[in-house]
Amino acid sequence: MVSKVKKNILKLKESATLAINEKSKKLIKNGKKIYRFGFGQSPFQIPEKIVETLKINAHRKEYLPIQGLPELREKISKYLQKRTGVNYSKDNILITPGSKEAMLLMHVAFNGEIITPAPSWVSYEPQAEIGTNKVHWLETSRENNWFPTANELENKLKTLGKNKNLILILNSPNNPSGTICNNLKELAKISKKYNLIILSDEIYTDLSFDNSYDSISKYYPGSTFISGGLSKWCGAGGWRLGFLAVPNGMKDFMKSLKSLASESYSTVNTPTQFAAVEAYKGNYENYKLKVRRILNAVGTYVYNNLKSNKVLINPPQGAFYLMPEFKNKKFKTSAQLCDVILKETGVAMLPGSDFGFKPKKMLTRLSYTDFDGIEFFKNVSSYKSISEEMVKTYAPNVVEGVTKLSNWAKNL
Ligand SMILES: Cc1ncc(COP(=O)(O)O)c(C=O)c1O
Repeated sequence: MVSKVKKNILKLKESATLAINEKSKKLIKNGKKIYRFGFGQSPFQIPEKIVETLKINAHRKEYLPIQGLPELREKISKYLQKRTGVNYSKDNILITPGSKEAMLLMHVAFNGEIITPAPSWVSYEPQAEIGTNKVHWLETSRENNWFPTANELENKLKTLGKNKNLILILNSPNNPSGTICNNLKELAKISKKYNLIILSDEIYTDLSFDNSYDSISKYYPGSTFISGGLSKWCGAGGWRLGFLAVPNGMKDFMKSLKSLASESYSTVNTPTQFAAVEAYKGNYENYKLKVRRILNAVGTYVYNNLKSNKVLINPPQGAFYLMPEFKNKKFKTSAQLCDVILKETGVAMLPGSDFGFKPKKMLTRLSYTDFDGIEFFKNVSSYKSISEEMVKTYAPNVVEGVTKLSNWAKNL
């Protein structure tokens, strides 16, 4: 019988994060203590004034323009200009229910193939499959901080043949590695040479620990799309407020994205868009600074206490992830490794195979957000450094989980 569901949709798997949550829940039910290092969500409170603005606008019920509230697009345009030096005018910005939706619409509209580095966020490949765009993985290495070199990119492009429309996805700071790309200029040069489109996923840029934010759009503005939103820096993942900035010369793309938006979600909910105006207009530098300093302190604690001759890790540079590699010959796949670690230590992590690595590479994604961000935030000043004692006081689950994990790794 012919399947009632399209083949490319039927192929989609349950999200990796959901699967680990289900397993963790079962273990918790049986009385096991679980360290939730699998799920990546900001533990911090949304700044009060932004929440207040949402409340004040809760009565608004009218539909907004498909593309989004003009004032919000204007503010995002200014924010991008300040951050990247590139002018994405308000007419080139689309407000979306989370940046995930923005990327999905891009895949649906795009006629071509996708290049994505391994490691990459879990949703890029399935989204490309929904859009029936073929995916090419580009392997990276620890030595190059888990980003492709210009040479690696060019070699990959040579194997793909000429006259193809190609999107290269870049995400820095990166989920899952927590590292930052420092060769954007070189990557831009090759991208220009081969006429690539770049999708620069900048959802974590405000969480670059040394605040030395860089965007590939600076070096290749004509073909760089930028996605971003409130989910990470502002702790508002559940509000579903994202955006896509489209390069100036790609009017066809913008027109098609608007049609797709119009025929799917119509417009993002009205009160949230008004609250987002405040988020992009107000000065939240102090809030961002504190958030970054806390994440940096916790990430550095995990890094210092986990790295060993059995566990290789690159230092944390942004977002809230680390990507440890376990040296072992016992386990066949990273998924099996994660299963055993979960059962034996209670530490939940995601396997590297969910992020584009070959299953036999013993990499995992460790998210270090299992702490009460509200309490930690209250007790940190913008100026004083965060001591290890403070990490122990305000992130006890992270500290305990890492101790268990590093003890477990000693026996590998
Ligand atoms: C790398 C990356 N990009 C995009 C997103 C999607 O964010 P949102 O749809 O909440 O804007 C996430 C969320 O986990 C992410 O980790």
